[in-house]
Amino acid sequence: MTNNKLFIKTLRGEKNDRVPFWFMRQAGRYLPEYIALRKEAGSFLDLCYNPDFAKEVTLQPIRRFNMDAAILFSDILVIPHALGQDLAFKVGEGPVLTPVNNLEKLEALSDKSLHDHLNPVYQTVSKLSKTLPEHVALIGFAGAPWTVATYMVNGRSSKDQAETRLMAYQDRETFTKLIGLLVTSTSEYLIRQVDHGAEALQIFDSWSGTLPADEFIKWCVEPVQKIVENIRAVHPDVPIIGFPKGAGAKIKNFVKKTKVNAVSIDTSTSITWVQNVMQPLCTVQGNLDPLLLVSGGEPLKKAVYHILDHLKDGPHVFNLGHGIIPQTPPENVKMVSDIILNYRRS
Ligand code: CP3
Repeated sequence: MTNNKLFIKTLRGEKNDRVPFWFMRQAGRYLPEYIALRKEAGSFLDLCYNPDFAKEVTLQPIRRFNMDAAILFSDILVIPHALGQDLAFKVGEGPVLTPVNNLEKLEALSDKSLHDHLNPVYQTVSKLSKTLPEHVALIGFAGAPWTVATYMVNGRSSKDQAETRLMAYQDRETFTKLIGLLVTSTSEYLIRQVDHGAEALQIFDSWSGTLPADEFIKWCVEPVQKIVENIRAVHPDVPIIGFPKGAGAKIKNFVKKTKVNAVSIDTSTSITWVQNVMQPLCTVQGNLDPLLLVSGGEPLKKAVYHILDHLKDGPHVFNLGHGIIPQTPPENVKMVSDIILNYRRS
């Protein structure tokens, strides 16, 4: 049966009178009801692996703001965790993993129990697909191999991903194996999310911006291209959104090579360039600075209309250039949601 939800039709390239919208990290610490539930769950990971709690936090922003899409509540780092790498989220520190930075440590990982470990995530997807309001589409997601590898190799967030870039130069063979393992497990993970009810997929490559052009092709474009091919071999119609954050003008080649249906645009990319160069190629999403959502007022309104007006002649999903940050007042999210819901393109 064809999926006729506004968000899905737009990802297929249709242009409609109303612009569908959702926000990256729409579930999270800026919502008091999220903080309350995380406390009840115990930790962030307990929340991710408890299907009833994860379902509930996925739905929280939808109830408040009536987005066109809900994104599964989980994290990109459940893949290394499922492969056997230690993972903890420490308050104020972010993720902490035991680094996998040589062949021996890589060979200690295994994808044997990948789906057993990830089963709670699949259960969350199933529960959501049965309970979401009729017009709301469910987005599944994963991290792109390069970005996930930066956490696996370095063991925590890093500003310039130097350790991982260095490993890619110094021990190319091992790094190629690591990316290969991530391509296979991420493809299977995303395919299972669609099996359980995800209607669109987003692949987050948050750290693609620090790679030189040739390395970008090798570690960002080619792995995502392979994942898209693997998914389409099983689910040819599921729309896929790429997000090579910080890649600048390289996103044009990224879209052509990977054949994603849509691309998410970070805050640094010019909206006129997106309008002229990217929108003729695919559906575009993103660009609003999450900090404007913190500061609010007239500058926020102006920026929202600026994006809506520039992209009104082609397929557009409204979103931010990166995730909502914890200091964001929920009333600013409400204001932007209402502007978009009332905006008409004709
Ligand atoms: O609402 C949604 O967008 C869905 C859930 C989601 C989370 N993480 C929940 C989360 C999604 C899609 C992600 C993706 C993710 N996770 C990315 C890619 C997007 C991006 O932000 O660049 C990355 C790099 C991660 C890894 C990660 N997870 C980091 C670095 C951190 C710590 C930083 C922080 O914001 O605390 C997390 C934790 C995390 N993931 C939180 C949430 C709601 C905060 C955890 C908490 O409650 O304390």
